[in-house]
Amino acid sequence: MKDAFPEQSTIHAALEMAVRAPSLHNSQPWRWRIGERSIHLFADHSRMLQATDPEGRELIISCGAALHHLRVSLAALGWSCTIHRLPDRSDLRHLAAVELEQTEPQADAVVLAAQIPRRRSDRRPYRSSDLPPFAVTQINRNAAAYGMTVRLVTDPHSRRELSLAVAEADDIESVDVEYRNEVAAWSGQHFGADDGVPAKSVPPDAGYGGVRLRHFAHPEMQTGPGTVAPDGDVGTLIVLGTATDDVYAWLLTGEATGTILLTATGFGLASCPLTQPLELPRTRRLVRDAVLGGTVHPQMILRVGYPTTDRELPVTPRRPVSDVLDSSDGTTAGVWARPGQRDRVRGL
Ligand SMILES: Cc1cc2nc3c(=O)[nH]c(=O)nc-3n(C[C@H](O)[C@H](O)[C@H](O)COP(=O)(O)O)c2cc1C
Repeated sequence: MKDAFPEQSTIHAALEMAVRAPSLHNSQPWRWRIGERSIHLFADHSRMLQATDPEGRELIISCGAALHHLRVSLAALGWSCTIHRLPDRSDLRHLAAVELEQTEPQADAVVLAAQIPRRRSDRRPYRSSDLPPFAVTQINRNAAAYGMTVRLVTDPHSRRELSLAVAEADDIESVDVEYRNEVAAWSGQHFGADDGVPAKSVPPDAGYGGVRLRHFAHPEMQTGPGTVAPDGDVGTLIVLGTATDDVYAWLLTGEATGTILLTATGFGLASCPLTQPLELPRTRRLVRDAVLGGTVHPQMILRVGYPTTDRELPVTPRRPVSDVLDSSDGTTAGVWARPGQRDRVRGL
């Protein structure tokens, strides 16, 4: 039904799911606006992490992940989306205008949406086994739908080069006072905070299998006996790359990140972004040359693998939807209705 539009309660339910998306340091840098016949996503640059992400690249990736979760949630609720990315070229904060059409709830979307509340950034070690082929196929397929180049870094040489780039980035960032202050301000959070990385979500170990993980403030995760496998590893590293390096590519990277993380969760796999080497030009170039053959721009690194324990991680907090929803002043109506702006992504 072309002219139907969801009830407010349906839109709110979908937005509740969208804001469960991962974001850099749980900064949740998004704002939403509900138009008369559309939903709009805006980047909130007031929540940009100036020292870690001076270009705002990871901010846009975070918004892309939220856009993906919105799309999947709406599809699961019986609303298929046409997404107009960057609908207003004079305002690059306006990341997407989402048009809706009523359909039957899509079965694959229901499965994927069910993973949204279950997914966590899991910073514990993973088993050192390979990913199952069916998961690799599905991850490749999902990422390809968003035009990503996907590389599973499985050969020892590339993996070593990548772990060296991670270590170099960590060395540089950990002596940068502004970076350190920023990560300290956005992590080690306790009960009551509605953003930032909770102390309980971070284990004391900051690296496995020769790959370092980001140091957050006050790691307080209880690891306990039997929770860490003796062969604990960082897991399979997956690098996503794009042909261009602009807001559009970053947004699609976020969407692809959203679909890969939910797909992995659905297969019972643990996952976590690991993006330090992409935060400095030198180490980003190293990743580009070592993993992507010097051709495309690396945008995201994910670690994925089997968890070593079935102990659930605590849920991470989010700001309430009411805090990230602006009332529409009507200016967003119809600005995307120009030729050449239609959604070419086919898939969830
Ligand atoms: C662009 C981006 C970069 C991230 N980089 C890292 C990282 O380097 N290390 C890490 O442990 N988590 C990283 N994360 C995960 C966030 O910290 C996490 O999504 C956030 O704290 C919310 O927690 P949740 O994913 O468990 O819901 C990143 C997430 C995004 C979207």
